[in-house]
Amino acid sequence: MTARLRATAEGRLRLGVNIDHVATIRNARGDSYPDPVRAALLAAEAGADGITAHLREDRRHITDDDIARLSEGLSIPLNLEMAATDEMLAIALRHRPRAACIVPEKREEITTEGGLDAARHHNHLAHYVDQLGQAGIRVSLFIEPDPAQIEAAIRLGAPVVELHTGRYAHLDGEARAVELRRLADAAALAVKNGIEPHAGHGLTFDNVVPVAAIPQFRELNIGHFLIGEAIFSGLGDTVRRMRALMDEARG
Ligand code: PXP
Repeated sequence: MTARLRATAEGRLRLGVNIDHVATIRNARGDSYPDPVRAALLAAEAGADGITAHLREDRRHITDDDIARLSEGLSIPLNLEMAATDEMLAIALRHRPRAACIVPEKREEITTEGGLDAARHHNHLAHYVDQLGQAGIRVSLFIEPDPAQIEAAIRLGAPVVELHTGRYAHLDGEARAVELRRLADAAALAVKNGIEPHAGHGLTFDNVVPVAAIPQFRELNIGHFLIGEAIFSGLGDTVRRMRALMDEARG
């Protein structure tokens, strides 16, 4: 790769494709298909820069075996979403994904509802951030776009934060514009303090462009919409279209 191409690739907004819900469909019947690893390979071919998978405590979608196969079979980085528990830490240290995103997890929730309260749980999180970091895994904290949470991430020494876009995605009109400004301000505060900001949750073809246009974001992680849309357009075309919208947003 030439220096110019490398600079372009490094500067562009990365797309992490979350393949959890391929596993949700598989697990609905307890069969071996559709295979999330096959989806990950297809997403990589279509332009995904990374694959994200959330190994939940209850293994409702991604399983331990999926993580093992993703760790071995991917040519692009794996971002393991995990709760801050000793069980998940041991799994992360065994497989050593490129990145680990610490998320809050409640057994009864439908999806990750809201970000981590990094300010409140500083002492609990510090151990996991340190252990993952020492193993060479790039740690991110999934937090709300709130200055208090960014400040907690700074104190924890997290190199990356992922800002929760769920509220933005579910609001309309002026309320959405206010939430978008919160995302932009939090991303700018992160960068000012040497933290790389990512974003994700609830992003779709219809709402991704304003988020992708926030210049500080380096990565978006998108799952549920892409897997659902793939039913109609195929996963390759769906990932390519998302990629194109993100690139257009960056001009
Ligand atoms: N980022 C994080 C940290 C998440 O927990 C999730 C959902 O698993 C996503 C991104 C992707 O959200 P969605 O599936 O709504 O695109």
